[in-house]
Amino acid sequence: MTPAGPGTGARPRRSPFAPQVLPDGRRRFTREAVLARRALLAGVVAATAGGGVLLTRPGPADPGAGAADPAAQDPVAVAAAEPAPAPAPAAAPDPSTTDAASPWVVVNKQHPLDPVEYAPALAVVGGKEVAALVAPDLRALLEAADRDGVSLSITSGYRSHARQRAVHDAAVRRDGLESAESVSARPGHSEHQTGLAVDFGGSSRPGCQLENCFGQTPEAAWLQAHAGRYGFLLRYPEGKTGITGYDPEPWHWRWVGTDLLGRMADRGVSTLEEFFGISGGPVYA
Ligand code: DAL
Ligand code: ZN
Repeated sequence: MTPAGPGTGARPRRSPFAPQVLPDGRRRFTREAVLARRALLAGVVAATAGGGVLLTRPGPADPGAGAADPAAQDPVAVAAAEPAPAPAPAAAPDPSTTDAASPWVVVNKQHPLDPVEYAPALAVVGGKEVAALVAPDLRALLEAADRDGVSLSITSGYRSHARQRAVHDAAVRRDGLESAESVSARPGHSEHQTGLAVDFGGSSRPGCQLENCFGQTPEAAWLQAHAGRYGFLLRYPEGKTGITGYDPEPWHWRWVGTDLLGRMADRGVSTLEEFFGISGGPVYA
């Protein structure tokens, strides 16, 4: 086959970008032209997004490219003629650690709830009230445990300021102030009052509800393996009493969401106080 070119009498090859001129003089871009321009622009965007400079131009494989439309030969000119790509939306700011309604709020003996009688929007899961924010993940967690044959239950979810006072007072009467306060928060200082904390129980060892031996149950092992997938953090882990202010509680999990859990894992920290650099510990402010 004779190649098209000067002196051959063949019509010059059209640029893939050039519009077709209709009999009435209007210009119409063919599907081929539109696709070629899109492909070229994708290259421009990719090259410039990478901080590089676009050097690609139609090469010798396309000797007639742009003959009918000089601007179309220049991919930069083509890019300039197109509307600029919309800027990426700004990332949402991280949730607050002080707003009582925030999924990342940190409440401890140094940081009471504000307002101290805060109450969240509630939903009921497993027969207990929790913050509505937590409900979808908590339901999914309980369903997953059930599918795995693990009989998890909720012993305690949301506790109002008044309820937390009653729980704390009862613990003090039973164990004395110092011992009680190693496991029970004063009203206005409990993450149960945010509705984001859940105490889990199980049927394998009924005598271990809210006791250290819960940590040796299959339910606790399941939580250790799977709760993070549903955004739950073991809030008072072993060896962190000086930071959290509480003895280990293998039954007490705090919903923070999977985004924060991922960031904590990346940093290798297990407490909210360490991750955010927020004060805590066993002494009330
Ligand atoms: N047991 C935890 C510390 C609370 O009372 O909130
Ligand atoms: Zn608890």
